Amino acid sequence: MTKKSLVISIVGARPNFVKLASLHKHFPNQIDHRIVHTGQHYDFEMSEIFFNDFMLPKPNFNLEVGPGTRASQIGIMIQKIESVLKSEDPDLVLVYGDTNSTFAGAFAASTCNIKLAHIESGLRSFDKRMPEETNRILTDNLSDLLFAPTKSSIMNLKNENNLGKIIRSGDLSVEIINETLTNLLKKKEISKGLNLDPKSYVLFTMHRAENTAHKDNLISIIRSFEKLRDHEIIFPIHPRTKKVLESFNLFERLTRCKNVKIIDPVGYLDFINLLVNAKKIVTDSGGVQKEAYILSIPCITIRENTEWIETVVEGWNVLTGLDSDKIINYINNWHPLKKQKPIFGDGKASKIIMDEIQNYLV
Ligand code: UD1
Ligand code: UDP
Repeated sequence: MTKKSLVISIVGARPNFVKLASLHKHFPNQIDHRIVHTGQHYDFEMSEIFFNDFMLPKPNFNLEVGPGTRASQIGIMIQKIESVLKSEDPDLVLVYGDTNSTFAGAFAASTCNIKLAHIESGLRSFDKRMPEETNRILTDNLSDLLFAPTKSSIMNLKNENNLGKIIRSGDLSVEIINETLTNLLKKKEISKGLNLDPKSYVLFTMHRAENTAHKDNLISIIRSFEKLRDHEIIFPIHPRTKKVLESFNLFERLTRCKNVKIIDPVGYLDFINLLVNAKKIVTDSGGVQKEAYILSIPCITIRENTEWIETVVEGWNVLTGLDSDKIINYINNWHPLKKQKPIFGDGKASKIIMDEIQNYLV
């Protein structure tokens, strides 16, 4: 009997789990797929809920790294991942996206001389103040297989003369959203207890380090909410943002905006349900910009740049930074009409990725 190949996926944060979920179920019997969770995200609503929603198996290893400064968090992750990789000796390590767990996994694979594949490779915001941008660049440099979702991500890798094998895969979110929409058909309510009517509210998320680190940015957002009294705003709040608002003594002022409903972060099924029924989304998330495009929800991105540039070119995403007037104007007066092109592929990313991995492991 031929020996099974061993592939280890390294994940740790919410967006990593969503990408892992699309791919995990496509692993064939000949591959033993094990999951390492770094513990970067650890609250139930930021971690376990995704394993439940997607019916993912429990991670084989939970490294319980938890929060810390970026350097200390990455350092501890690398040490702990390295020790798992040394004992497991996989044929391939898979990392996803651009979080600290992604880069730590890539670096540990490199120190152990294990082949590395990067899912969601080649994205660039060209803004090195973002920790995600350096995580992406460093991870891509260490990768042997680079699964690039979009045209611009391929171009970025070529422009950087990346030495790995570049594969245009499309994006996993197309298929995960399609499956989720099928599940949503069985779900009548938009979100338990919120009493929401379809297209009656604006969905809001914000957690980027560069947005939340400055008190003025948060004040600017609260001012926008104060001026948007005619709009109901649903805000599933990221734990980072809640902690920062509290530390700046701004959380109470936010709760005084009666048009804003602050809720805990929700699972993926609930989030997609909230998104597809929203009239607009205001966000600084990477993944949510893609999901909004795929679901035809106009997206107002409170950043100065984006790695998902095609969504802007196609007219369904606008970059406002934290400029309150711009945000309000786009919420009130902007109605994209252009028909979407399939910029994220045709929903076959997992097959393309799995075929390539299987060929690579032969
Ligand atoms: C991380 C990723 C970011 C991604 C986001 C998704 C990096 C550099 N950033 O940002 O790319 O968009 O996840 O959500 O990897 N916290 C909790 N409970 C949790 C998780 C976090 O309370 O379960 C708090 C902790 O105080 C922590 C802070 O949030 O210090 C930030 O968490 P961290 O994982 O460092 O960064 P995110 O902002 O979540
Ligand atoms: N998401 C979720 N619940 C929430 C907010 C977001 O399930 O309350 C999902 C969202 O649909 C996306 C993923 O979490 O697929 C990651 O989004 P996040 O904004 O945390 O990270 P980013 O994509 O910016 O790295």
